[in-house]
Amino acid sequence: MLSASSASVVTATLPLVRAHGEEVTGTFYRRMFAAHPDLLNLFNRGNQATGAQRQALAGSVVAYAEHLTGATDLPWNAILDRIAHKHASLGITPARYTVVGHHLLAAVAEVLGDAVTPQIAAAWEEVYWLMACELVAREARLYHGAGVGSDVDVWRAWRVTGRTDDTADVVSFTLVPADGGPAPDFTPGQYASVAVDLGPDDRQIRQYSLSGRPGLGGWRITVKRIRATADSPAGTVSTYLHDTVAVGDTLRLSPPFGEVSAVPGDGPLLLVSAGIGVTPAMSALAHLAATDPDRPVALVHADRSESTHALRAELGGLVNDLRDATVDLWYERVTSDHGLPGARVKAGLVDPDHIPLVPGVRVHLCGPLEFMAVVRRGLLARGVPGGDIAYEVFGPGMLRPDADRR
Ligand SMILES: Cc1cc2nc3c(=O)[nH]c(=O)nc-3n(C[C@H](O)[C@H](O)[C@H](O)COP(=O)(O)OP(=O)(O)OC[C@H]3O[C@@H](n4cnc5c(N)ncnc54)[C@H](O)[C@@H]3O)c2cc1C
Ligand code: HEM
Repeated sequence: MLSASSASVVTATLPLVRAHGEEVTGTFYRRMFAAHPDLLNLFNRGNQATGAQRQALAGSVVAYAEHLTGATDLPWNAILDRIAHKHASLGITPARYTVVGHHLLAAVAEVLGDAVTPQIAAAWEEVYWLMACELVAREARLYHGAGVGSDVDVWRAWRVTGRTDDTADVVSFTLVPADGGPAPDFTPGQYASVAVDLGPDDRQIRQYSLSGRPGLGGWRITVKRIRATADSPAGTVSTYLHDTVAVGDTLRLSPPFGEVSAVPGDGPLLLVSAGIGVTPAMSALAHLAATDPDRPVALVHADRSESTHALRAELGGLVNDLRDATVDLWYERVTSDHGLPGARVKAGLVDPDHIPLVPGVRVHLCGPLEFMAVVRRGLLARGVPGGDIAYEVFGPGMLRPDADRR
């Protein structure tokens, strides 16, 4: 809890800090990367370039300050869990919090100048460390649960045992631990970080959902190639994986992390996905087909067309093994009538009013943020409680708190 004296200082200075948020963020990263260039390999360069992650770190400290002073009602437990799982998958150590805290507070002082009295600096330092302690504690528990030692080395070598080019832009890799040990178990919906060396001292890390069935000797990831457009370059890691990784190669992966289960509860389940967001749903279907084939499950999947729909070929077999499953495929372009047994194919964008619902259903969403916001609003309007709708974002950020109302 924030001390009473700091609470009043933070309340009074929140508008000022918020107003200079972007400048503070830019200054923070500039200072930190100048002092610790090795950290450039830890942070996602694409997100840095687009600004997607830049706001996330400093922005969440400001949001936490609002929470501590009673100015918001955000779901903090879920937010801290999400950040902690992401951090754990990157192997963030407690010592790094001292570095980040130092540069973040120095950035506030640099940007706000004389406005930052020692009392104001101390109050914001208290906010930072309250949040940092929450995260460090959660991350310590995650490391312990994953068997990560006190050196917080999360990386393990995995050998690529299979490569399947699934669509023109999607490839799947099957992997087993290179040391011959067992593959850690995971819950459908969880992901692993993959660290790739692009050159000397040039490393990048990305997260990929585990798209196969838990409990096997190995894992599978399914990666969509991000192609260059007129305004943006090709994706760094997805291009590397597509262009260079072959059977027999070694990749470095973290243990499985991720707080969002794609098989929540034990009653009826609705999986709604779009594009490459189908990966957690496929893991969930494979898991249920093997362990709970009578569980009622509906998959609603949106894609450009049949030919872009990743892992489509294995859907038929899974649906066959599930005794109470329905599949609705919404394709923007219905290009052929290569029917999938048991699946209904519809043309156009997913219409939330036509998503099959049964009482007590638990929902898992995965796809672009805008897609998930539309589906979530539609489901809420049809009476599904917000707490029964989980979602995964394939990038930094969460659904905006006002997403339900727009
Ligand atoms: C929990 C989680 C699970 C995920 N699961 C999957 C999965 O199962 N399958 C999957 O394919 N992906 C998944 N992702 C996404 C994945 O982690 C990567 O984000 C994705 O592969 C893109 O990485 P990249 O390195 O190829 O692209 P990046 O290089 O990170 O680029 C990302 C975007 O930023 C743009 N960009 C980069 N630099 C610039 C610049 N200088 N100017 C303008 N624009 C720029 C790129 O054009 C691109 O559009 C998941 C993400 C998360 C967080
Ligand atoms: C109180 C301190 C911190 C806060 C509030 C914080 C907050 C965040 C948030 C909100 C995200 C985005 C999560 C998501 O939605 O995916 C994130 C990701 C990340 N954080 Fe932190 N963080 C803190 C400390 C640290 C530290 C100490 C490091 C290590 C130097 C670090 C490195 C990262 C990295 C590398 C990512 C992923 C970035 C990306 O993929 O672009 N963070 N953090």
